Amino acid sequence: MARKIIIDTDPGQDDAVAILLALASPEELEVLGITAVAGNVPLALTSKNARIVCELAGNIDVPVFAGCEAPLRRRLVTAEHVHGKTGLDGVALPDPAMKLQPAHAVDFLIDALRAAPEGEITLCPLGPLTNIATAFTRAPDIVGRVREIVLMGGAYFEVGNITPAAEFNIYVDPEAAEIVFKSGVPLTVMPLDVTHKALVTKPRVEAFAALGTRVGEVVASWTRFFERFDLEKYGSEGAPLHDPTVIAWLLRPELFSGRHINVEIETASELTRGMTVADWWGVTDRAPNATFMGDIDAEAFFALLTQRLARL
Ligand code: BDR
Ligand code: CA
Repeated sequence: MARKIIIDTDPGQDDAVAILLALASPEELEVLGITAVAGNVPLALTSKNARIVCELAGNIDVPVFAGCEAPLRRRLVTAEHVHGKTGLDGVALPDPAMKLQPAHAVDFLIDALRAAPEGEITLCPLGPLTNIATAFTRAPDIVGRVREIVLMGGAYFEVGNITPAAEFNIYVDPEAAEIVFKSGVPLTVMPLDVTHKALVTKPRVEAFAALGTRVGEVVASWTRFFERFDLEKYGSEGAPLHDPTVIAWLLRPELFSGRHINVEIETASELTRGMTVADWWGVTDRAPNATFMGDIDAEAFFALLTQRLARL
């Protein structure tokens, strides 16, 4: 039976590729809903972009909900410098005909978790953790009902991308991240340590383009667009494709390796706000709360992604 997931997201080109990968994998994954959150760009755009991506995938039945428009206690920080003004810059796509669902994303999360058998739904956050933390705070009874959370966020060896100390998703809403990391729900984390090994090199972009489909062409254009920023910054051979690693782990966990360790979120210091203090070396006696990934078989990851995108 397909695993039931909810994708919580701030598209973003890499979020968009993650959504496509999930929608292209119905044998393994049933997407119950997509909940949009403010992050890479404001909520009005992330909730629109999520629908644009569903339509691109030819899937207009998956319900899309708009969630929180600002972090719990901070002003929203966005990332147009990476993703462009729309969040999906790189290729012009039509406005969606699909409507947003009338319910708030947080209410959907609460209702879906209460309605499903305990331990059935997996949450896949790909942006700041505001929606998930708000749902957990408002309805603590749902926390124990989540099967697990598989998220993109944080860093240890790679430290930070939005500041020297912090990764974007955790930095934007550190208080929300702290709630999620302390929730007791089994957590699998894809930090920059993994995603900075999932580089969209030239042959990999060409493989998307060579699919000869609209989806292949769009994914190639998106990755070429955000590549310009990361290439300049890191001087690496391609830009990291962060968020699809979450979905890839659900499909092929053997492509990843990591450690079950303690991870705490820095919320007090302005200098290191949003840092994921990961006890990778086991130097404290703090209880493990997350499986923190460290490595990926990038060749196999891109082969899987390209093969699945070919289905759309
Ligand atoms: C994360 O931040 C966003 O810019 C990406 O979509 C990804 O989720 C990487 O730090
Ligand atoms: Ca994202």
